[in-house]
Amino acid sequence: MPDIRGSIHGQWSSRFVFILAAVGSAVGLGNIWKFPYITGENGGGAFVVVYLICIALIGVPIMMAEILIGRRGRQSPINTMHALVADEKAHPAWRWLGWLGVLTGFLILSYYSVIAGWALAYVFRAGAGLFAGANAESVSTLFGALLDSPESMLAWHTIFMVMTMAVVARGVRSGLERAVTILMPALFALLVVLVLYALYAGDFARGAAFLFNPDFDKVFQHCELLESGVKSCRFSGEPLLIALGHAFFTLSLGMGAIMVYGSYMPGNASIARATLTIVAADTAAALLAGLAIFPIVFANGLEPASGPGLIFQTLPIAFGAMPGGQVFGTLFFVLLVFAAWTSAISLIEPAVAWLVENRGMARVPAALAVGAPAWVLGVGSVLSFNLWSGESFQFFGKTWFDLVDYLTANILLPLGGLLIALFAGWVMSRAASRGELRMGDGVGYRTWRFLVRYVSPWLVVIVFLNAIGLI
Ligand code: PFF
Repeated sequence: MPDIRGSIHGQWSSRFVFILAAVGSAVGLGNIWKFPYITGENGGGAFVVVYLICIALIGVPIMMAEILIGRRGRQSPINTMHALVADEKAHPAWRWLGWLGVLTGFLILSYYSVIAGWALAYVFRAGAGLFAGANAESVSTLFGALLDSPESMLAWHTIFMVMTMAVVARGVRSGLERAVTILMPALFALLVVLVLYALYAGDFARGAAFLFNPDFDKVFQHCELLESGVKSCRFSGEPLLIALGHAFFTLSLGMGAIMVYGSYMPGNASIARATLTIVAADTAAALLAGLAIFPIVFANGLEPASGPGLIFQTLPIAFGAMPGGQVFGTLFFVLLVFAAWTSAISLIEPAVAWLVENRGMARVPAALAVGAPAWVLGVGSVLSFNLWSGESFQFFGKTWFDLVDYLTANILLPLGGLLIALFAGWVMSRAASRGELRMGDGVGYRTWRFLVRYVSPWLVVIVFLNAIGLI
């Protein structure tokens, strides 16, 4: 079936480049920084099982839905939704879906850049040999020093945001494509090296058991390490919501990032095959990160529930002890920055594409118009770890950083994903979705349609209702 539209922003040069770009978007801080620490806070194996179920039953069908919507519309998510609403003669309210995505991406970028700034700071710490002979105490002091300095966190946040705006300003081909082609494979290779190290020097058996032995009593148990060093655990439906939210976050779903990348996808490529490749790569990256980190956590008597600082307080111990650790450590944080970079790009691309399409802006001012306010909002996250960490700066019982993270990952992304599933499954005609998926009417298409109509939306709704205590 021929394309019914063309993109004014250009197209990926091949199906493979689309996959690389989507993997670049999916694999990021979510896999290496966030997955290990939320797994640590939510009891390990059982949480991982719930997360994997969410990936398979919700992530895969919704990713296919997002790509197909994007490729059919061939514009920014906002305009794509306009076009498809007209094609399908759907209710005009569906147009808001594009705007919801832009808002969510903007909010995520604001704090994502702050955490990516930590990774940038660690490139230089590793390079300067600061991890040599590190132990649990020295790495925690080193990390604490970064958090205690709003000035340096702000500086790294600024540098990262400028890097992101610079790539997006250059456009789809020259900017986005080049960054992912070399860096993603290198990141995977280094993760494997770290897992091998953990196998040799960490408490691998305990680490792997923590990650893979599901203790289902812990599915409803969420633990945090209090400032006093005491671990506090409570029972709630929240871990289910966190696993669901993370499935969206890690796959970059629910906000139009994968939709906008889909809009640059060559018309003849198979969406189903691309999706399976992207999801497999993303899941592998998260599990490898977990296998690298937890053996080190247990071998050094660290606490799995220690929160956002987890990788910054474990990996330096490994780098400090392994031969060539200075080089490997530096390289690892460089690659982590790149992984974050290729994700951040996809967070602002939907808004930038819209400004180019509708306001006739050039890409440079458009990137600035989105990046600058996101930077300002990020200042709140910088301060959440120091000047605003106290009681008087709590918003709904959370720091600004925690609030924006919770709101975006656990509420806005699943909501966006739910609406995308409903649109693709119920609003778009069979002919339209089947034509775009290029799948015929076989088992593959029917399974997808069944999942996207009945399974994914209901699971999202049930987890939501459970987390707010209604069921
Ligand atoms: N998937 C990215 C990660 O795991 O780090 C984060 C992300 C990128 C979320 C793009 C959402 C998005 F649209």
